[in-house]
Amino acid sequence: MSIRPYSVVRRSTASLGLAAIAVALLCAAGPADATGNAARGQTLYKGCADCHSINENGVGPMHKGVVGRKAGSVPGYDYSPDLKNSGIVWTEETLDKWLTGPQAMVPETKMFFDVPDAQDRADIIAYLKERAR
Ligand code: HEC
Repeated sequence: MSIRPYSVVRRSTASLGLAAIAVALLCAAGPADATGNAARGQTLYKGCADCHSINENGVGPMHKGVVGRKAGSVPGYDYSPDLKNSGIVWTEETLDKWLTGPQAMVPETKMFFDVPDAQDRADIIAYLKERAR
C-alpha cells in the first residue's frame, strides 16, 4: 500500500516538469507572436478557404510559400494581368495592405474579399508565415 502515494508524487513531479516546458515554449514564442496569433489565424483562414488552400490552386492561387514570394508567381494559376505585373513581393506589410482592400492595391485584381479588422489580418498573416512556408 505504500506504492500508491509514491506514484502520486512521481506523477505530480512529472506534470510540473511539463508545465515548466510549456511555460518555456510560450516565452520562446512570445516575440514572434507579438503581432499575430497563428492559431486564431487558422480559424480565420476558413474564410479564405472558399477560394484558397495551402497546397492547391482553386478559385485563388495556392498559398504555399506565399510570404516572401513574388505576387502572381504560382505556376499553372491564371492570374489577372494586373496582379501578375504588379511587382509586389508578399511581406507582412504588403499582405496587410492587400487584405485591407485588394482593389485599392491592384485595381483590376479578381480577388474580391477583404478583412477589415487589423488584428484579424495580423493573425491570418501569422498563420500563413507559420503554416504556409
Ligand atoms: C472569393 C474568393 C477569394 C477569397 C474568399 C479570398 N481570395 Fe485571395 N485571391 C482570390 C483570387 C481570385 C486571387 C487571384 C487575384 C488575381 O489574379 O488578381 C487571389 C489572390 C490572393 C493572393 C495573391 C497570391 C499570389 O500568388 O500572388 C493572396 C496573398 C491572397 N489571395 C490571400 C487571401 C487571404 C489571406 C484570404 C482570406 C483572408 C483570401 N485571399 C480570400 C480569391 C479569393
